Amino acid sequence: MENFRINTIEEYNQAYKKSVEQPEAFWGDIAENFLWYKKWDKVVDWSFKDYNVKWFDGASLNITENCIDRHLASKAKDIAFIWESNFEDKPNRVITYQQLHNEVCKTANALKYLGVKKGDRVCIYLPMIPEAVYSMLACARIGAIHSIVFAGFSATSLSDRIQDSDCKIVITSDGSYRGDKSINLKNVVDEALETCASVQHVLVYEHTKIKINFNNDKDIWWHELVPLQEAICEPEKMKSEDVLFILYTSGSTGKPKGVVHACGGYMVYTAYTFTNVFQYNEGDIYWCTADVGWVTGHSYITYGPLLCGATSVIFEGVPTYPDAGRFWKIIDKHKVTHFYTAPTAIRALEALGLDFVSPYKLNSLKVLGSVGEPINEEAWHWYNKNIGKEKCPIVDTWWQTETGGILISPLAGITKLKPSYATLPLPGIQPILVDDKGNEIKGNHVEGNLCIKYPWPSIIRTTYGDHERCKQTYFSTYHNLYFTGDGCKRDQNGYYRITGRVDDVMNISGHRIGTAEVESAINMHVDVVESAVVGYPHDIKGQGIYAYVIAPSTTKDHAILIKEIIAEVNKIIGPIAKPDKIQIVSGLPKTRSGKIMRRILRKVAEGDVNNLGDISTLLDPNVVEEIKNGRVK
Ligand code: WTA
Repeated sequence: MENFRINTIEEYNQAYKKSVEQPEAFWGDIAENFLWYKKWDKVVDWSFKDYNVKWFDGASLNITENCIDRHLASKAKDIAFIWESNFEDKPNRVITYQQLHNEVCKTANALKYLGVKKGDRVCIYLPMIPEAVYSMLACARIGAIHSIVFAGFSATSLSDRIQDSDCKIVITSDGSYRGDKSINLKNVVDEALETCASVQHVLVYEHTKIKINFNNDKDIWWHELVPLQEAICEPEKMKSEDVLFILYTSGSTGKPKGVVHACGGYMVYTAYTFTNVFQYNEGDIYWCTADVGWVTGHSYITYGPLLCGATSVIFEGVPTYPDAGRFWKIIDKHKVTHFYTAPTAIRALEALGLDFVSPYKLNSLKVLGSVGEPINEEAWHWYNKNIGKEKCPIVDTWWQTETGGILISPLAGITKLKPSYATLPLPGIQPILVDDKGNEIKGNHVEGNLCIKYPWPSIIRTTYGDHERCKQTYFSTYHNLYFTGDGCKRDQNGYYRITGRVDDVMNISGHRIGTAEVESAINMHVDVVESAVVGYPHDIKGQGIYAYVIAPSTTKDHAILIKEIIAEVNKIIGPIAKPDKIQIVSGLPKTRSGKIMRRILRKVAEGDVNNLGDISTLLDPNVVEEIKNGRVK
């Protein structure tokens, strides 16, 4: 593994130069560090014009053999995961690499028993328990494609995702805990399955012992099937470009799309970035607080760390239960050296005060990480001072579900930091800033739309079942470039700072949510005729959701209507998409051609009401006055 470790900034510069000048030689050398059944014929083959990309074509491998089996000779007794329960008095579960191997094989054999074959889709809807990791690796072991759905999504969202990829099996648990809440997940699955004909079986892990409906034709208890299986399961030989997983994510239009990642390139890139960004060393204890339902949980809880033989903490609970010191308590308890979380968590804990931090030593920490949204300078300094004690580099890692791994980030202890800057592209990543017409913005101290001009091994392969959508969304805005959807600054030293989305995607507490999705959920309310949703700056969440709603015929009290709308969004998407502010309006600012001028709605939501710009092209400029006057503060 260490053959591709970068140790100094000079080595970074050399690696970067080589990656641009000789990308095939560069990635080919890195790929030599893994176990392949057969090596590739060609390192990369690609076209952004008619989007198509292949990495390590002709090669075959199994990612789980690289994550687990390969380590067994030297690390069978080393710890892969330490699981920390939602409840602090509940004992940890400690899983060695050998145990991980056995559990993954048993789960894989159970899936086979249930009829799952190579290429079949398996939906995983589980809380943060080790079985979530076993399940994803079990799929990868037998060549099935996992599609994990964050267990906070509603039945409707779950059903949409299951249907889109025709999943054969759902793996869930009876319930989940989040702080002092207990949630009946199985009920959500039952409701979702009313509209999912493709699902043949539901594998149910008993976790909270909550009462559930059990359908004997379809449902199978995990404990009645998995432990009976053999602890050996030969890994399926996968082609490098075979699909490893699908993960749904929000875009600016329509329903969430299934981002598809392929086995070979994803393996090489997540391992390369894990090692280099975090500078993890033998004996370190790494903890990423994400949920496996998001891409961070895929790449930097499961695959990246396991590929590098790391020891990780996985945590079931929330940062504020039983109190806002929980993260720091866990760090001391397990002597965590690498801590990777989201700015929204940092801001929320900062707001609750240092009394929750001061009881803890935090002296095991070496590296801090940030992911999911821009980290503002204040939060950066708070994190640096109070958690890192000014001794731990902060790696502000910029990337996306579509990129599979981190693209722009400091290398811990190597890259000179600058608060709120993701700093420099990793080797292999060629960022470019363009203006709205697609012209390159050259030089430094500039700002533009962030694109990438050369593929990297874990780039999105397609959107499941709809390659045209993938081309349209990422490769058609600017000629021959991958468009990220993010705005970005480049400072005088060539450092990058991501300023946030420039499309209609919001980032709420680090979660991606499309304005169109929330609007369509709001419009499901019988009294609502039309709605428009925008993000606005929010102290803790980064962005909050502001909804303008037209409900002309309602006789309901607005407070009641607003409550009902929130409940509707909760039901259709899930609590993460609940609007923070709802303003009932009689009209929306539209141009004569019927297009909503979101710029105006954003300005009002931000409170910048005296600076709305030109409104002369509006069909009815009077609505603007009404909207300004009724602004929800
Ligand atoms: C945002 C999460 C600033 C960005 C890994 C991106 C960030 C979107 C950062 C992807 C960061 C992620 N600084 N912004 N360090 N990391 N983002 O797909 O807008 O859930 O486009 O992937 O999050 O979100 P996603």
